[in-house]
Amino acid sequence: MKVGVLTGGGDCPGLNAVIRAVVRRGSTEYGNEFIGYRDGWRGPLEGSSIELGVDQVRGILPRGGTILGSSRTNPIGEEGGIERVRQQLAADGVDGLIAIGGEDTLGVAQALFEAGLPVVGVPKTIDNDLGATDYTFGFDTAVNIAMEAIDRLHTTAESHHRVLIVEVMGRHAGWIALHSGLAGGANVILIPEQDFDLEAVCRHIENRFSDQFAPIVVVAEGAKPIGGFPKADEGKTDAFGHSRLGGVAHWLEAEIEERTGKEARATVLGHVQRGGTPTAFDRVLATRFGLHAIAAVNEGHWGSMTALKATSIELVPLSEAVDELKTVPEELYREAEVFFG
Ligand code: F6P
Repeated sequence: MKVGVLTGGGDCPGLNAVIRAVVRRGSTEYGNEFIGYRDGWRGPLEGSSIELGVDQVRGILPRGGTILGSSRTNPIGEEGGIERVRQQLAADGVDGLIAIGGEDTLGVAQALFEAGLPVVGVPKTIDNDLGATDYTFGFDTAVNIAMEAIDRLHTTAESHHRVLIVEVMGRHAGWIALHSGLAGGANVILIPEQDFDLEAVCRHIENRFSDQFAPIVVVAEGAKPIGGFPKADEGKTDAFGHSRLGGVAHWLEAEIEERTGKEARATVLGHVQRGGTPTAFDRVLATRFGLHAIAAVNEGHWGSMTALKATSIELVPLSEAVDELKTVPEELYREAEVFFG
């Protein structure tokens, strides 16, 4: 059996661990051959691939990024896209495809499955916002990077009696902000699921200063004040129609300085959260996803996706993962509020 593998969407630490596990188990246990498609859906769409075998996956477990490359190419948005993917897979003699990605990549995988193609999905995203799995790999690494940054910002904030605002990733879901903010002892955490009251944020900040400490505000890039921002953003979008976010921390910096009279500084962590070596948790989760994905391919479980349920890896329908975004429940956010101010 020949198996195609691709990684699509924003990269994250652990992608190489999945590829390695797929190839190692597929080669030794099932006698599979592999083809690696380059840059997500661009690979099968344009016939761009690399040789993939045990030699190519040696030593890649601790490496961030993806040896296959990634992109946000969307075949559904292209004229005859699905048909072109089908023809390329047939030309390459591919019997099954493993698509490793987030909501967009897996949405395409689901559409291909509905069009009759043999696809299995593996969920990834630092945002942890995919339904049907308790965690996605990449998230734990991103949270640890953000937590370490918050730890460092505490000390400089206190030296200078400043407010430090840390902007983390999270377009629609505040998982990274919530977990890194809790782990790092933030004084305010702002997430996309709960529009914030700027006056309340400023009260928390003033309260923190009155305790002789300098406040840390952790804000997800998708968070917004009640009533929205006064100015609309510039509206740059990717192939899946998502706007490019970033900037809320700088907006807060100016507002907080004006309203509290305290000095404020913004730190935008950006793509630092997606780079570098995965944590042990992410390496193990990604490896287990890879082992189960190649088994699913060899057993013909098309249209399924690997998912973490408590401590077990299970197969769920791809549709479940893409139907609904997994956002932070209000009661979980309320727990974190105990530490605000
Ligand atoms: O989906 C993962 C993610 O890291 C989001 O948190 C973020 O909004 C987006 O990707 C950034 O995408 P890009 O790297 O394309 O700017």
